[in-house]
Amino acid sequence: MSNAIHIDHPLIRHKLTIMRDKNTPPFLFRALLREISFLMGYEVTRDLKTIDVEIETPVAKTVKPKLSGRKMCIHSILRAGNGLMEGLLDLIPTAKVGHVGLYRDHEDLHAVEYYFKVPGNLDERFNLVVDPMLATGNSANAALDRIKQAGAKNITFMCLLAAPEGIEALEKAHPDVQIYTAAIDEKLNEKSYIVPGLGDAGDRIYGTI
Ligand code: URA
Repeated sequence: MSNAIHIDHPLIRHKLTIMRDKNTPPFLFRALLREISFLMGYEVTRDLKTIDVEIETPVAKTVKPKLSGRKMCIHSILRAGNGLMEGLLDLIPTAKVGHVGLYRDHEDLHAVEYYFKVPGNLDERFNLVVDPMLATGNSANAALDRIKQAGAKNITFMCLLAAPEGIEALEKAHPDVQIYTAAIDEKLNEKSYIVPGLGDAGDRIYGTI
């Protein structure tokens, strides 16, 4: 039984269907991805801690909540992760950003790292790792391994589409990491693409098809 949280909302369903359509151009695909990242970000950040601070409105002094603690860190798994990360950064402009560059080896599909840059004090932050597609789980697991090596403890993974195989692999390797997804698709095909999916998310975002 999976603990993945499926954020199911009519607006997300509608936008996702347009994104899946192969005739949707990159500019619209990017805009929809950004909008969905706002909708998902609202839910994913629900448990962020706040602290009461004293402020003065034009009318009176008052004590109201603000986000507390170290700034959260959004970790983008390159390159498609940037599509989600940029929207989330609009929502939480004070967040720090980490980048994990991974590509899939064409022979055995394992994740090969080519770039890794993250902020300090990850152990004191809420770490949100983003990649639109959770397919085999290889990239996500490799990124999570590296982020944990760098000190992260409180980690959540957010994707747009997940294959059941990817959810299973991630939950097995990282049972402490909560998964949020906007949809759970049927399966992977022989090339490890999500079915029905939306194709290669990086290509759809950047028009490199
Ligand atoms: N990565 C993608 O971009 N698409 C898939 O379907 C699977 C992995």
